[in-house]
Amino acid sequence: MIKILFVCLGNICRSPLAEGHFLKLIIDNNFQGIIECNSAGTAGYHIGQLADPRTRANALSHGIHLTHKGRQLIESDFNDFDYILVMDDSNLANVLNMQKDLENSKAKVFKMRHFDYEHKDSDVPDPYYDSEKEFEDVYQILKRSTYNFMESLKNEHNL
Ligand code: 4NP
Repeated sequence: MIKILFVCLGNICRSPLAEGHFLKLIIDNNFQGIIECNSAGTAGYHIGQLADPRTRANALSHGIHLTHKGRQLIESDFNDFDYILVMDDSNLANVLNMQKDLENSKAKVFKMRHFDYEHKDSDVPDPYYDSEKEFEDVYQILKRSTYNFMESLKNEHNL
């Protein structure tokens, strides 16, 4: 099993949506039982909560039903998951800071937009304090980036 973890700050806006996109890609590609994914936040503000109502409404308007409940990134995630995809530089700094002290860590860490060839390596902006338009922007960014990431995984793992 190839295991992917999407990580943002609160685990209620960006990373649960990335997970939603990727779950759809797993089904579209018939990769159930081959690839699985989850999401987490570096912070613990929203543990146990569904994604932000604005994220859920936006995703649903595109046919994606988000059911993930917020959880915080934990040390064992670094050895349970093969890839950790972070949304911005702040997430990246937090994740690398956690990883550097671990004895057992197999996860390869990338920025999500490493796979957005239109704006390579930029941040997925945090829409939490913004309006509906920014939630839609994040939707489109994550749609492209998760699609390209899946294509890259297929190449890397001969799927
Ligand atoms: P996310 O957005 O990291 O994409 O889930 C945020 C959600 C909540 C907060 C910040 C960012 N917050 O400060 O509660």
